[in-house]
Amino acid sequence: MIDIVEEAPVHIGAREALLDLSFGEARFAKTSERLREGRLPVFAFTALDDTGKLVGTVRLWSVADRDGFQSLLLGPLAVDPGCRGNKVGDRLMRHALNQAAMHGHGSVILVGDLPYYARFGFAAGLLDDVTLPGPVDQDRFLGLEMVCGHLSGLNGLLEAAGNLDPAVAPAPLSNGFSMPKAA
Ligand SMILES: CC(C)(COP(=O)(O)OP(=O)(O)OC[C@H]1O[C@@H](n2cnc3c(N)ncnc32)[C@H](O)[C@@H]1OP(=O)(O)O)[C@@H](O)C(=O)NCCC(=O)NCCS
Repeated sequence: MIDIVEEAPVHIGAREALLDLSFGEARFAKTSERLREGRLPVFAFTALDDTGKLVGTVRLWSVADRDGFQSLLLGPLAVDPGCRGNKVGDRLMRHALNQAAMHGHGSVILVGDLPYYARFGFAAGLLDDVTLPGPVDQDRFLGLEMVCGHLSGLNGLLEAAGNLDPAVAPAPLSNGFSMPKAA
């Protein structure tokens, strides 16, 4: 049996290992990553098998345009190769989208394969006026509206709008200013 639960700090190591396995180092170069790095997700869900092993992950992130109009960016979504084809991804997606809707969010966007995400209601062509901080294949730039017409309010360049992750926040200096951590 698979349980979908909120991600806890104890899951982070296994989640990162699954993402490395699923996407490799290239995941850090993705344009979507520019909107996630250094931020906390709004939602983070984990699929656990009956031994407690993490077999799936999905997160959603707050993004906003220059006028402060907000949406949620979904990703990365990954399922353990040994569990694929058993609807774990389906359950993670539906749980994440239900939670987003229940909490009053108007839309979700992502960069991904339309043949997979169309089954959840995602479509291309809703984000023609929206850009990300890096290159994006428009055919893979997908949106889902929980509130009809919501994505027509989103325009121009999107920026990260989530809370800063204190684990990667700049270290404060004694003079009150702060410097970025060394790479
Ligand atoms: C995509 C992924 C999360 C799906 O998880 P899953 O638990 O196997 O998904 P489900 O069991 O709910 O659905 C499986 C179905 O999705 C299809 N599918 C999987 N990846 C697909 C893709 N990229 N494009 C189109 N269909 C896809 C499978 O062929 C299968 O089809 P079927 O139902 O007709 O047999 C998983 O394959 C994975 O982790 N892949 C590597 C990471 C990745 O590509 N993430 C998504 C980024 S776009």
